[in-house]
Formats: sequence, C-alpha cells, structure tokens
Amino acid sequence: MYQSVVITKNEKITKDIYYLEIKETYKVKPGQFFMLKKENTQMTLYRPISVFRLTENSVGFLYLIRGTGTKILRELKAGEQLLVHGPYGNGFPKAEGKLALIGGGIGMAPLYLCARENTNSTLYIGLRENLYTDEEVQNIRKLFSDVSLHIKIGGTVIDDVEFEQYDTVFTCGPSIMMKKTAERHHNTYVSLENHMGCGIGACLSCSCKTKQGMKKVCYEGPVFQATEVEWE
Ligand code: FES
Repeated sequence: MYQSVVITKNEKITKDIYYLEIKETYKVKPGQFFMLKKENTQMTLYRPISVFRLTENSVGFLYLIRGTGTKILRELKAGEQLLVHGPYGNGFPKAEGKLALIGGGIGMAPLYLCARENTNSTLYIGLRENLYTDEEVQNIRKLFSDVSLHIKIGGTVIDDVEFEQYDTVFTCGPSIMMKKTAERHHNTYVSLENHMGCGIGACLSCSCKTKQGMKKVCYEGPVFQATEVEWE
C-alpha cells in the first residue's frame, strides 16, 4: 500500500543525477528499492528507485533522469508530498570477508549502503568519459566521502580491481560490466536493473532469464548470484 510522505531534499548532483530524501522511518536492506510517484500528476507509473542512504528517520534516493517519470520527480521541491511504496526486493546478502563493490554509472547508488555496512570493502565507480564536469565528479565524491572509494572516468572500471584480493563482489550497472565482473570472480552478486511496471510481482514486465527459468527481478531479485543469471 502506498504512503504519502514529505520530501526534505531534492538536489541536483550532476546534470542527470538527483538526490531525493524523504522523512520517514523504514527498515531497509542494502539493495532494496521503493516505488516512487508524484501525487496528483500525469505520471502514470511508479518508478523503482534503489535506496541510497538511510538514517533512523530518513531515506535517500539517488536517481538518474531517464524519462518523463524521473523528469517529473526532478521538479519536486522540499516540503512537497511524494507517494511511495516499498521497500521491495531481496537486497544484497551479508558478505563475509573482503568485499569489492563495483558500480557503473547510477549503479553506484545501491552499493553505498553496502559500503557503509561493510567496513572491509572498497567501492569502485565507473563513469563515462566526458559526461560530467570536474565539479559534478566532485559532487559525486562528496556523496561517498565516508566510504573507501575509487572512481574511474572512462575505460573499464573492472580493469582497476584486483579481484584476487576479494572474497565477495557485489555489482550493479550495465549488463556487460556485470557479466564481465562475474567472469572475473566466482563469488559475484549482481543487482539487475530491468524495466519494472508494478514492482510487486504482478505484471511480469521485469522478468529475466536464469538457469532455473524466468524470474521476476522485482520480487525474486533484484539481487541474484551471478552464476544463476543467463546473460543475453
Ligand atoms: Fe511487475 Fe516485476 S515489475 S512483476
């Protein structure tokens, strides 16, 4: 069931990434997501957005502007209401040992909470070359300033990871990056970003191919052991 909550922040981080915060208390696992929508609007569908930051009484989301729905979210101001339902999805498992977190673009968002929970981790973020100004990259750095961070601009971020140092790898981002990550480390978990309609297992729009047949990313994922996934 959806809830109407108050927005406390909706800030521009880069030309296409915004940080939105709501004042509400939720119990959330890293890797889970909420469905968000503006009240009284032509925005027809809720948008699935992963949880980025969490405090006792607030939840923060880092989201990419990629269509009409997120353009509408971008216009919201602090003090306005937002409709949310969630949290949904399985989230990342508890990682033992040393953990590498590898995020491509906005795939960095769900990994921040994992980095906060696991002090024996390093977060690697890959950003496209020439996409962001120095100031925008600085803004991203600031968001992650309290975790061990490595940002690579241009090229392939996984080239910077010494995989043999790590016991477990969590990754989120473009499929090709996650597939290649899984080829480099046997104990990799991927967070899939399939298109979603309902977010609650009812519409099948998020289905993905796995070794055990089709699975719903919103309900049985979004986190899967990489060895389960049949990459396209
Ligand atoms: Fe509808 Fe997953 S989004 S079943």
